[in-house]
Amino acid sequence: MKKKNHVLVTGGAGYIGAHTVIELLNAGYEVTAIDSLERSEIRIVEGVKSITGKEFGFHKVDCLDESAMEQVFATHRFDSVIHFAAYKSVNESVEKPLLYYKNNLGSLMVLLDAMKRYQVRDLIFSSSCTVYGQPDQIPVDESAPFKKAESPYGASKQLCERILEDVATEGIRVVSLRYFNPIGAHPSGLIGELPIGVPNNLVPYVTQTAAGVRQQLTVFGNDYNTTDGSCLRDFIHVCDVASAHVNAIDFLQEQKSAKLFEAFNLGTGVGVSVLELVKKFIEVTGVNLNYKIGPRRPGDVEKVYADPKKVMNGLKWKAKYDLGQSLQHAWQWEKKIRGLV
Ligand code: UFG
Repeated sequence: MKKKNHVLVTGGAGYIGAHTVIELLNAGYEVTAIDSLERSEIRIVEGVKSITGKEFGFHKVDCLDESAMEQVFATHRFDSVIHFAAYKSVNESVEKPLLYYKNNLGSLMVLLDAMKRYQVRDLIFSSSCTVYGQPDQIPVDESAPFKKAESPYGASKQLCERILEDVATEGIRVVSLRYFNPIGAHPSGLIGELPIGVPNNLVPYVTQTAAGVRQQLTVFGNDYNTTDGSCLRDFIHVCDVASAHVNAIDFLQEQKSAKLFEAFNLGTGVGVSVLELVKKFIEVTGVNLNYKIGPRRPGDVEKVYADPKKVMNGLKWKAKYDLGQSLQHAWQWEKKIRGLV
């Protein structure tokens, strides 16, 4: 059997990072994860160990800390890196743009520099469908132009992709995965998302409302040009997002070229409206949800969902979970963290 890679996962205690560590360990990879734990908790790392029954290296390291990063690279021999570590709140990025540029661009610089010095060639980068803005055509494919980003968060992802395209000429091979709307939690109920404070994203707001932590969900707008007037998104189970990273590592390993930058949409290809999601949640959980229609949220795009042909063919990947399962898993996790099970 071919020897499996040793993969460095930055942001390995984060929402998508931790689910990806599980997929990597289950696929036989050696994993070292780092995380500042500024916006996550060590119990997620413990959860990953319980789910997989496997050990992996974990270090509390901030990717902006050059000497700590140097130490990580000097003491391990990595074959590939998956870079999740970044800030991800759209609202917060509008309030604190400099924080977002400094963290999201700065951590990438420190990482690329270390990869070059230690000759680690392969990188998977966490990008976002936000790079497209409101696309002219949906489903959107990877050839769509980048529109002006709606937020500094979105702009930071666009800039990172630009940097990576340039750095690919220096022998770093990159797959950029443009996530649509990751939701859900691990089916075991042992790990999931830990939003800080009031959630911005729809599904954590839905589950917290169902759990009684929030009084009422507001659906932001029902006057959009969609079937029921609410926004349309491509919701994808976090485990499906995670598994694509394993395929991306295999893909890079198979490439002969020393220079490569390839972006893939990571979505299901199914557009679901906010109101459809709310109804599906009520249907699959049997829990009633207190919601009202409110005004549009500034900065929201009306509709966006992926054309997933490239990722399905190029990475030989397919989503396994449907919307109902994703919502059941999100609810199971919410109940666990609220002590309702
Ligand atoms: N929504 C509500 N009520 C809420 C929260 C959200 O109606 O309380 C609606 C939003 O208006 C939007 C949809 O649910 O129409 C999805 O909103 P999310 O905040 O869950 O997700 P976004 O599509 O805005 O955000 C996603 C990713 C971000 C990424 C962003 C940029 O979660 O990380 O896309 O496109 F930056």
